[in-house]
Amino acid sequence: MLEVYKFDESVLGADSPDPLRHAFPKKHSAHAGGMSSPIVPEQKVALLDRLYSQETKKSDKRCLYIHIPFCRVRCTFCNFFQNAASRKLVDDYFEALLKEVELKANQTWTQTGLFHAVYIGGGTPTDLSAEQIEQLGKAIRRSFPLATDCEITLEGRINRFSDEMFDRALEGGFNRFSFGVQSFNTKVRRSAKRLDDREVVLERISDLSATGQAPIIVDLLYGLPYQTVEVFEQDLNDYMATGAHGLDLYQLVIGGSAPMINLVEKGKIPAPASTADKASMYELGSAFMAKHHLTQLSVNHWARDNRERSQYNSLAKTYAEVLPIGCGAGGNIAGYGMMNHRTLETYMNAIKSGDSTVAMMTKQHTLEPLFAALKSGFDHGVVRKDSLPSFNRQSSYEFLTPLFEVWQQRGLVEMDEQYLVLTLAGKFWAVSLAQAAIQVLQKTYQQHNTLETAVSI
Ligand SMILES: C[S@@+](CC[C@H](N)C(=O)[O-])C[C@H]1O[C@@H](n2cnc3c(N)ncnc32)[C@H](O)[C@@H]1O
Ligand code: SF4
Repeated sequence: MLEVYKFDESVLGADSPDPLRHAFPKKHSAHAGGMSSPIVPEQKVALLDRLYSQETKKSDKRCLYIHIPFCRVRCTFCNFFQNAASRKLVDDYFEALLKEVELKANQTWTQTGLFHAVYIGGGTPTDLSAEQIEQLGKAIRRSFPLATDCEITLEGRINRFSDEMFDRALEGGFNRFSFGVQSFNTKVRRSAKRLDDREVVLERISDLSATGQAPIIVDLLYGLPYQTVEVFEQDLNDYMATGAHGLDLYQLVIGGSAPMINLVEKGKIPAPASTADKASMYELGSAFMAKHHLTQLSVNHWARDNRERSQYNSLAKTYAEVLPIGCGAGGNIAGYGMMNHRTLETYMNAIKSGDSTVAMMTKQHTLEPLFAALKSGFDHGVVRKDSLPSFNRQSSYEFLTPLFEVWQQRGLVEMDEQYLVLTLAGKFWAVSLAQAAIQVLQKTYQQHNTLETAVSI
């Protein structure tokens, strides 16, 4: 029986009349995660060989993630920046990347099943040349067994995304485009070091969407300096005006290395919005989508029509395997997590010398299938009882019910015997809730196993 009263407010949420704004102190990271154990470096190569030489489970859905670690300019808010793009650096990297594509494609694990979603992310993949984008798309389609309806996304920005680049990306087989816009407002954009002004971004996204060639997705942030509630509302109206097919709304989360921190400290730009203000913006955004009858695919993603499926984002949050390729790419295969070298030099040297590109491996927690099911459920806004693997030979949903009941009292969820449905406040705090549920399970599991070991000794 879960002794829920032993946990504090970081798990239970605060008992507040306003859970949307005050259930938890603040969001620290974009994703929830469970504990995993590091693999000792000496075992890495043999383990990788074993994983790649075994057959995959054919019925499982899989993803391919390819990372492009360059941006021409570093945005002030961003935690993902790795390298400044220069033509020579990008060209050399691209050559190395194609080698890794070929290497990974020629493995038994790769060839024995299907891939259902491919994502080229960054950094800024659209900082590749038009020719490279086409080449990469073609290499992927030639080398990997893709499902007939495989979603192949190119992420990037509209800056320098010419008609030629769009045509060649389509020619290469890309069938979904996700553009980081962040805000349409020129003042907000300039202060964040985004490259184009409002009119340019609006026109380009509208033109691309109007071609009808592929779903066009827009990422917006909320909480940026100068992005008042009025500006944010205009951002949402601007999104509607573009006709784009899908929208991600991300709460701004500033990590340790983002240049914005320094700029705010020096008084050069105003501070970003507080958590309570961001909660109000989320409320406004959700009401806006409902008013315009957009379909909510996850707590922060909406689709205007059923052309947008957001396969990668939802699959990668389940227990699906993700094959990582490129400098800094992360993924997981057969219960092991892996992360490629993050520095360009180490990655390029590994490719040149034929060494493994993997810098670090972990064994996922035994309960990872359950953690992943929870993360996926919270991300969708509904946790289904029958989607959760069991815990200590009992229903996980029933085990967690005392926690769910506290959350229900605190206005974060509504539950019945089958479904845990997040309220608006619960959706805003979905990552914190997933993290809290995982923490409770991990702690109980540890205690249970220590106890069993102690008994058996
Ligand atoms: C890693 S970026 C790559 C996209 C592309 N390079 C661009 O400039 O838009 C992917 C998305 O992450 C989101 N992102 C970046 N920094 C963030 C932050 N500090 N907090 C929340 N989301 C962030 C942005 O919405 C961005 O569109
Ligand atoms: S938001 Fe995009 S372009 Fe800007 S630094 Fe981050 S990854 Fe690079």
